[in-house]
Amino acid sequence: MIDPWASSELDYEKLVNQFGIKKFSEILKKVKNPSTLMKRGVIFGYRDFDKIAKLINDKQDFAVVTGMMPSGKMHIGHKMVVDQLKWYHEQGGYLSLSIADMEAYAARNISFSQGKEIAINEYLSNYIALGLDLTDENIYTYLQSEESTLNDFSYQLSKKVNLADMKAIYGFNNTTNIAHLYAPIIQVGDILLPQHENFGGPKNVVVPVGVDQDPHIRLTRDIAYKFREELGLISPASTYHRFITGLTGGKMSSSQPKTAIFLNDSPKEAEKKTKTAKTGGRESLQEQKELGGCPDRCVIYEMLVYHLIEDDKKLKEIYDECKSGELLCGHCKAMTAELMGEFFENLHTKKEESLEIAKTIL
Ligand code: TRP
Ligand code: SF4
Repeated sequence: MIDPWASSELDYEKLVNQFGIKKFSEILKKVKNPSTLMKRGVIFGYRDFDKIAKLINDKQDFAVVTGMMPSGKMHIGHKMVVDQLKWYHEQGGYLSLSIADMEAYAARNISFSQGKEIAINEYLSNYIALGLDLTDENIYTYLQSEESTLNDFSYQLSKKVNLADMKAIYGFNNTTNIAHLYAPIIQVGDILLPQHENFGGPKNVVVPVGVDQDPHIRLTRDIAYKFREELGLISPASTYHRFITGLTGGKMSSSQPKTAIFLNDSPKEAEKKTKTAKTGGRESLQEQKELGGCPDRCVIYEMLVYHLIEDDKKLKEIYDECKSGELLCGHCKAMTAELMGEFFENLHTKKEESLEIAKTIL
């Protein structure tokens, strides 16, 4: 079972085999203008994405749904979702962005007023600073607790799921409070909301997520299927991205500050933290020169892949030079830290203005 509220290490291959998630590499060719994260295999899996690829290629309408639980600080791993949203927006998708304040209340004890404040100060302002134009008419951002169609719709959808299903999918038991029990139903509502008649009726939707969210995707697909005749709902497609590795080599987690670079860190801090990252270097300089490094197990290299180097050729050069032992970790780290610093400088110049815009969105 995958528990969406716990953090665990994941074996991506296994997920692809066991849960019916398909390999993204197998349909990459069908996407005319794939995003960087798609080309680099960061997005590794999908359900039904072939349908979405076709709509994108043919310039037809589709919607993209994601949600953010306003519970902590945004770290650099969260940027990945924003990058995907920017790409979909450029491809003509309609974006529906949920701020999961009801989930934060149910699962993390965050009050509704706290949730709204965190959403604006931390999430929306960073989304804007990272380049997603939330004022665009093709992007709808809402708080779960304030979206009445969502709440009515979720209630309607909940008719076709029972307690046994919820226990089997999420491991809920007799002490699970009802708000928590209901939180996944609200998320199902989020994902199907663009298909509600108030939002134009049935259409194809894609949900870009980390695999921890797959139980919600499966539940949503199942419920949509059960409502196919009554409401004409179409089961949503999904894509799955890898999680970014933390600075210490495990998971990057907001609740463990040593593992994460936060988007609100200063450029100096971000640079300093980058230098503490675990590398795929060898024990000694001698060994590194002889055997080469292991970029596939290097947090520094991962930062370059996910965030810091756009040019595929340049990236390949670094990979090859690392493997051949030509490139040494000290130099590579210094270069990466500098790029990280520049990235944060740029982000910080946009912060103030972004926050002002964020305050007008909800
Ligand atoms: N449960 C998600 C999280 O923990 C947030 C979320 C709410 C979401 N609604 C969603 C994600 C809809 C994808 C689609 O972060
Ligand atoms: Fe990582 Fe760079 Fe060292 Fe290679 S040279 S292991 S990419 S830090």
